[in-house]
Amino acid sequence: MSIFRTKNLDDMVAASKAPGGLSKVLGPFDLILMGIGAIVGTGIFVLTGTGALTAGPALTISFIVAAIACGFAALCYAEFASSVPVAGSIYTYSYATLGELVAWMIGWDLLLEYGLATSAVSVGWSGYFQSLMAGFGLKLPVELTAAPGALPGVATWFNLPALLIMLALTAMLSLGVRESARVNNVMVAIKIGVVLLFIAVGAGHVKPENWQPYAPFGVTGIMSAAALVFFAFIGFDAVTSAAEEVKRPERDLPIGIIGSLAACAVLYVIVSAIMTGIVPYKEFLGVDHPVSLALKYAGENWVAGFVDLGAILGMTTVILVMAYGQTRIIFAMSRDGLLPKKLSAIHPKHHTPFFATWVVGLLFGLIAALVPLNVLTELINIGTLAAFSLVSVAVIILRKKRPDLHRAFRCPGVPVVPALAVIMCVVLMSFLTLFTWIAFGIWLVIGLVVYFGYARQRSLLHVAAA
Ligand code: ALA
Repeated sequence: MSIFRTKNLDDMVAASKAPGGLSKVLGPFDLILMGIGAIVGTGIFVLTGTGALTAGPALTISFIVAAIACGFAALCYAEFASSVPVAGSIYTYSYATLGELVAWMIGWDLLLEYGLATSAVSVGWSGYFQSLMAGFGLKLPVELTAAPGALPGVATWFNLPALLIMLALTAMLSLGVRESARVNNVMVAIKIGVVLLFIAVGAGHVKPENWQPYAPFGVTGIMSAAALVFFAFIGFDAVTSAAEEVKRPERDLPIGIIGSLAACAVLYVIVSAIMTGIVPYKEFLGVDHPVSLALKYAGENWVAGFVDLGAILGMTTVILVMAYGQTRIIFAMSRDGLLPKKLSAIHPKHHTPFFATWVVGLLFGLIAALVPLNVLTELINIGTLAAFSLVSVAVIILRKKRPDLHRAFRCPGVPVVPALAVIMCVVLMSFLTLFTWIAFGIWLVIGLVVYFGYARQRSLLHVAAA
């Protein structure tokens, strides 16, 4: 059946090792930093506010639940990545193992995840940018500060800073200005620096009475918040996109994936405990910069200013990584014939997928300006949780289909661990709203229609076989 046709795995691995390919320069430490660069962003700097309103001080537990779900999925991801160390992401891997239709659906799902993630993080960026500007007495007209319906009881129309940051970064990416590993490392250091600063300064202002009652909304509140702050961990998968450039992918990819996830989990748990210890959780209503708000609440206005600045820089790297990942997935799908050829056209002068970069930047910039953050994050989360579930299932299938394949990293406890990953992901998905489920369903149906109406006949594998 043509929908199950696969790309040849051994050919792909061999091609990635051919001379003249990408140079192999990255080690485990680079990968952990790259992971943290992609992970720490709007989740911790912004969503903790909504999370605290949903779970109360027990938000800390929500972070632990989300981290465990990601941990199981990360083990599966690491096995996949270490046995298929080629550029691309789970789209490419699944094309080699599960067949074209599954690969298409995963790619389609990733388009939603990465695209909307750039929008969501731009919205987070905008909140901190406005907080920083307000420190200098500069305020935008309220209509231009947020999407319609984003702030309870306030008539907002359009999130102008979110659109502008997307356009600025799109211009950079389309001109081929990529952050170098060095710039990334500096940005990551600043980002971790402000998180540690928050912990160091904030810890002294905690009032334990703010942790009472600890879980005012019970298990439902904790799980709903976990399904939301799951967003804070998205990005560790970005490490796998560097597979072809890693010195010892078999060893270093799992270290990079699991190491960055673990480091972030520890930071998040501490930050959420301190935040809810400084500010009574109800005060987070309608706040889009909760971490710096907590510092201002404690009277630490200067430190709050530094945190604003660090958060802005930190979220900028997340948008860049996500937008870059998005264009590369589109590129891969287009190169395989599944999306229009123009989307993988390389600009003769800038050597970038110029057209695809601008299509994506304009589209998701407008979405950032017009859709509230909570709607965006739920959609991203459902897409990502679905993708993680598929990867976990894929690990089990691949063990059966290709027992011979060299796996430098083997996920422990197969099939139990992948099964737990799927169960945790599905449980978290079940706490997302009906609206999110319906929107995701519609997106998948459109995906199927495009596949059978367009992509299947144009797939290079189809053309080659015809
Ligand atoms: N984990 C990333 C963030 O929180 C997507 O911004």
